[in-house]
Amino acid sequence: MASVTLENVTKKYGNFVAVDSINLEIKDHEFVVLVGPSGCGKTTTLRMIAGLIELSSGNIYIGDRLVNDLQPKDRDIAMVFQNYALYPHMTVYENLSFSLRLKKTDKSLIDARIKEVSQILGIESFLKRKPAELSGGQQQRVALGRAIIREPQVFLMDEPLSNLDAKLRVQMRTEISRLQKRLKITTVYVTHDQTEAMTMADRIVVMKDGIVQQCDTPLSIYQRPVNKFVAGFIGSPPMNFTDGLLLEEDNRVWFVNDDMKLPVSQKHTGKLRPLVGRHVTIGIRPDMFLLNGEGVAPGIRGSFRVEIDVVEPLGAEILIYFKLKDGATQVAKIPPHYAVKPGDYLDIFVDTSTLHYFNFETEEAVI
Ligand SMILES: Nc1ncnc2c1ncn2[C@@H]1O[C@H](COP(=O)(O)OP(=O)(O)O)[C@@H](O)[C@H]1O
Ligand SMILES: [Mg+2]
Repeated sequence: MASVTLENVTKKYGNFVAVDSINLEIKDHEFVVLVGPSGCGKTTTLRMIAGLIELSSGNIYIGDRLVNDLQPKDRDIAMVFQNYALYPHMTVYENLSFSLRLKKTDKSLIDARIKEVSQILGIESFLKRKPAELSGGQQQRVALGRAIIREPQVFLMDEPLSNLDAKLRVQMRTEISRLQKRLKITTVYVTHDQTEAMTMADRIVVMKDGIVQQCDTPLSIYQRPVNKFVAGFIGSPPMNFTDGLLLEEDNRVWFVNDDMKLPVSQKHTGKLRPLVGRHVTIGIRPDMFLLNGEGVAPGIRGSFRVEIDVVEPLGAEILIYFKLKDGATQVAKIPPHYAVKPGDYLDIFVDTSTLHYFNFETEEAVI
């Protein structure tokens, strides 16, 4: 097992910078998820670690070994792809044993390893079938098995669950997490799905336009996003944003726009007072819109009236959508017992100590 270290790793295609000077230290045993929208450079980064794409500049180490010039087969990694990439003409047994047979591993040892791995993944009963005779989930398990059986130092996975239906995706998510904890193999996992990132990762690396935006534990990223992009990308439904002006009145700072006038909480005042007179963007998580302000101290309580646009009852909660006067749609997550319908007017409350503030121009978090 091993750590993986990226030093100023860059990939250019002509003048286009697909991956821009990434620095990352992935610890031994760690499960790191690269997440970001399509085209942000996740696959390129992963394939550079695998040795399938050459770096334009920078260094990659696996353990203490500089691997820039090593062939993929010499890097001691195993990769799982989105499309499984099983050999269609081989049985599951042959697919699983392929890499060991290449290494001329002893037949009885291969048998033993396949037994062990297929038990772990619950695929013992399909060993004689061809991939076409398996469901998507079963194929994905075989693809995982083929990676595990090699006992690599590092697992690289590129959106391995995106071809599965929603229910199976959730199930496989848990299985991969459990497997990784059990085998303790350092893993770099790529996905565009922030829920996968949040639920599976020890640490998340959020990327945009080839640049790492933030790298931290799921909870830290959720609680303290460094900019508006990360704040909006991590969390579901996403954080709500609206712009307004900071002003000082009655010896305290307020956030004001056409819909609301919110008292800035004590804990935010120090950082925001210097910005009085300027525009800022505030961010509110959907579950921080409250229908009852009684539990919120008056000094940090804000409220405004909205007209409900759309109601989505989800069983355990209700999502309600409303528009602000600047046109921005907001979504609130409320408890399931509220009887609300489109066209109703509601008083929404916020505890302003739960707000996020972003610089209007740079979109960086102010707090
Ligand atoms: N061979 C290539 N030639 C030119 N541009 C490429 C090539 N491969 C990828 N790109 C570009 O690099 C960017 C990052 O791609 P990729 O790493 O596949 O993104 P992701 O996996 O995050 O969706 C994209 O804009 C993509 O179009
Ligand atoms: Mg990709």
